[in-house]
Amino acid sequence: MIVAIEGIDGAGKTTQAKRLVRFLRSKGVAAEYTSEPTGSALGRMIKSYLRRGGANPHLLALLFAADRIYHLNKVVNPMLERGQVVVCDRYLYSSYAYQGVMTGSPLWVREINKMAPHPDIAVLLDISVEEALRRKKKRIRFEDPGFLEEVRREYLRLCEAGLMVKVDAGGGVDVVFGELVRVVAPRLGLRPSA
Ligand SMILES: Nc1ncnc2c1ncn2[C@@H]1O[C@H](COP(=O)(O)OP(=O)(O)OP(=O)(O)O)[C@@H](O)[C@H]1O
Ligand SMILES: [Mg+2]
Repeated sequence: MIVAIEGIDGAGKTTQAKRLVRFLRSKGVAAEYTSEPTGSALGRMIKSYLRRGGANPHLLALLFAADRIYHLNKVVNPMLERGQVVVCDRYLYSSYAYQGVMTGSPLWVREINKMAPHPDIAVLLDISVEEALRRKKKRIRFEDPGFLEEVRREYLRLCEAGLMVKVDAGGGVDVVFGELVRVVAPRLGLRPSA
């Protein structure tokens, strides 16, 4: 199973995804953490473009899709073959939201990502842009407030379309984690409490 943890920058994805892995392991479920963009040459290229800013959005979308193929082949599929639950810190719907908004070509973004399976469970850690930026306390290209508002709206549309489940990520770490477990645990056949 692939469990994708999604949300805008600073929503708490890494914090919650790592905690979810610890929780699942404590319940006897073999689980692994992984994240996108990866640490591969492609992932490093993406991160460097993001740091410098001004990259062509279609080029960036293709790099994300290529890095995702690498991630699936080298990391995710081997984990799935070992029977592990893969908790993925950003995945396919990050491209739907971010690259969809950046390129203005959401259908094309879906097309170039057709090789990636949809996640079994996708959670949107939903937070206001204001609070997310407060948590991050720094500004790079992706953290432009207007842009992040659009990305958040796109994520919320994916929830309305039934692709993701929304969790309110505005509370403290424990509160958010409790909500996350209530969403994920029953789908993995576990009791719905942290
Ligand atoms: N529920 C919370 N309440 C307050 N602070 C939080 C909460 N969750 C995470 N944080 C803090 O906010 C910051 C961002 O959290 P985190 O790195 O988990 O977010 P992220 O979604 O992974 O961000 P990015 O998109 O940049 O990877 C960290 O300093 C983290 O400790
Ligand atoms: Mg993170």
